[in-house]
Amino acid sequence: MARKKIALIGAGNIGGELANLCVAKQLGDVVLFDIPAKGSFAKGKALDLEQASAVSGADAKVTGTSNWADCAGADVIIITAGIPRKPGQSRDDLVATNLPIIRNVADNAKEYCPNAFTIVISNPLDAMVYEFKRRTGWDKSKVVGMAGTLDSARFQLFLAREAGVSVKDVRAPVLGGHGDDMVPLLRYTTINGIPVGQLIKSERLAELVDRTRKGGGEIVGLMGTSAYYAPAAGAIAMAESFLLGQDRLLPCAAYLEGEYGYKDLYMGVPVVVGSKGVQKILELELNAEEKAMLAKSADSVQKIVDVVKKADG
Ligand SMILES: NC(=O)c1ccc[n+]([C@@H]2O[C@H](COP(=O)([O-])OP(=O)(O)OC[C@H]3O[C@@H](n4cnc5c(N)ncnc54)[C@H](O)[C@@H]3O)[C@@H](O)[C@H]2O)c1
Repeated sequence: MARKKIALIGAGNIGGELANLCVAKQLGDVVLFDIPAKGSFAKGKALDLEQASAVSGADAKVTGTSNWADCAGADVIIITAGIPRKPGQSRDDLVATNLPIIRNVADNAKEYCPNAFTIVISNPLDAMVYEFKRRTGWDKSKVVGMAGTLDSARFQLFLAREAGVSVKDVRAPVLGGHGDDMVPLLRYTTINGIPVGQLIKSERLAELVDRTRKGGGEIVGLMGTSAYYAPAAGAIAMAESFLLGQDRLLPCAAYLEGEYGYKDLYMGVPVVVGSKGVQKILELELNAEEKAMLAKSADSVQKIVDVVKKADG
């Protein structure tokens, strides 16, 4: 059986780690694409990774390129094209630079990879994935945004450390936009089935929720640029579930058509990701407080989507 083809659009920090994980997990052959000015950098990174695979024994091919034709026929595209945050910037500050980039990527993806399942990572995430879907006109099952797997992973890690248990035993769903008003769902958070409130005091939980909401900014403050290992791991969980038909239930930015009361908007919700892409959105029952938090988050997403809709191009 031919190996699957995975096109990584953007060969920067997250792109490189995505490629590394694709090879390590033997998900398929990798094409690492960047703009012509970074074409030789992409080629060098690809060669370095292929040489690493000669140590690990992975057979996947890794190709660096600035030619979209090399991405032709990809089964999966993961998009990190664009600039990341610097200290003091919000994700929304990136829209002026990243909007023309996502439009350029969408036009090329439509031409060269019409059948790909696409995972968008570029920020501001919910608006960029919205624009990618609008621009390509692709079905909502084929276009999804990665943020929830990362936000949820951050929350799960903080809870596991606090409770002194393995991260494997913590389940902590997060809803809403990928911003500081995301909605960690404490009522649905468990440690191996035990409601988290029985193991961690409510004041401490509130502190961990706050740290999760500001988790991206914490890393930007420390490194001077965005996180890349955990974002790449989050996207690979989604790609793997698609490629291997795992039907995992993952928090993803999905196109809403009435779910949770929102329409024509991408926002983080629990999604079953399988061989058909976004197969199902699960609608959890929310209480008044959770609904209000989600409304605030949706309002922030809508504001930036409105900016994107009005921008020429
Ligand atoms: N969704 C999330 O949870 C999440 C988390 C962290 C970072 N991010 C976002 O992901 C993006 C990438 O972050 P990074 O740390 O990898 O940045 P990076 O600067 O290391 O890499 C981005 C790459 O995109 C390339 N690029 C620019 N225009 C392009 C185009 N038209 N086509 C192809 N490539 C192009 C750049 O040359 C660069 O190499 C940023 O927007 C960042 O804010 C999202």
